[in-house]
Amino acid sequence: MRFEGKVAVVTGAAQGIGEAYARALASEGAQVVIADVDERGRDVADEIKGLFVRTDVSDPASVEAMAEKAVERFGGIDHLVNNAAIFGTMKLDFLFTVDWDYYKKFMSVNMDGALLCARACYPHMQARGGGSIVNQSSTAAWQYSGFYGLAKVGVNGLTQQLAHELGGMNIRVNAIAPGPIDTEANRTVVPGNMSQKIVRDKMALKRMGSPEDLVGACLFLLSDDAAWITGQIINVDGGEVFRA
Ligand SMILES: NC(=O)c1ccc[n+]([C@@H]2O[C@H](COP(=O)([O-])OP(=O)(O)OC[C@H]3O[C@@H](n4cnc5c(N)ncnc54)[C@H](O)[C@@H]3O)[C@@H](O)[C@H]2O)c1
Repeated sequence: MRFEGKVAVVTGAAQGIGEAYARALASEGAQVVIADVDERGRDVADEIKGLFVRTDVSDPASVEAMAEKAVERFGGIDHLVNNAAIFGTMKLDFLFTVDWDYYKKFMSVNMDGALLCARACYPHMQARGGGSIVNQSSTAAWQYSGFYGLAKVGVNGLTQQLAHELGGMNIRVNAIAPGPIDTEANRTVVPGNMSQKIVRDKMALKRMGSPEDLVGACLFLLSDDAAWITGQIINVDGGEVFRA
């Protein structure tokens, strides 16, 4: 029960990986805010006795209102998981041809959304003497994957820069870079035979991950067990990408 008395905001937790994070945090005692554009988050929140706030992470007013509601209901914010992204429904296109308005929207959700949520939540963490943030990156950041990977490179940079800006307030910022995770979104966007090829050719451990494979790293980085870890991007990827 590492999160007893703590309040955690998880974005994009209506399904998939974010839902697994939200459930795991609740099972370790946290009061969890599910911030998602998808109303299915309401059912998840009901099941874990959390709070669903319909939130568009790319909209500053929506994100501010979400943080206010979290504080109104639970009295503060200690942890933030920036997991929301356009992924399962994303357009597949090239950087040099993708529609510009779509590209701007994509980056505002998949990269700037994490910054907006951090900006809305950090004052409440500071008011409680500190806190922690985990950003959801991807191994796509180190491989060719177009604007999806570019946004994750941005998330990695944001993790390092924010770690410095918030460290003096005892707020830690880290990221998890998952390899391929078997979610509905992944199955929609990555053809099955391509997933099998990635597993066969690229991965040290010969299987895709599950959301539960990521939970241990996420909760560790959020918890006091990681009290002196900040600005790090941790691969949880079955050995898909080796980094020096
Ligand atoms: N599944 C994988 O293989 C994999 C691998 C590496 C990284 N990731 C990352 O993990 C995260 C979750 O992936 P997933 O597979 O669970 O996908 P998912 O599509 O199931 O989850 C993303 C969630 O974000 C929400 N969302 C989208 N736009 C939003 C917005 N503007 N505001 C608030 N919420 C919004 C969606 O409604 C959804 O619930 C994403 O950041 C993804 O990039 C996934």
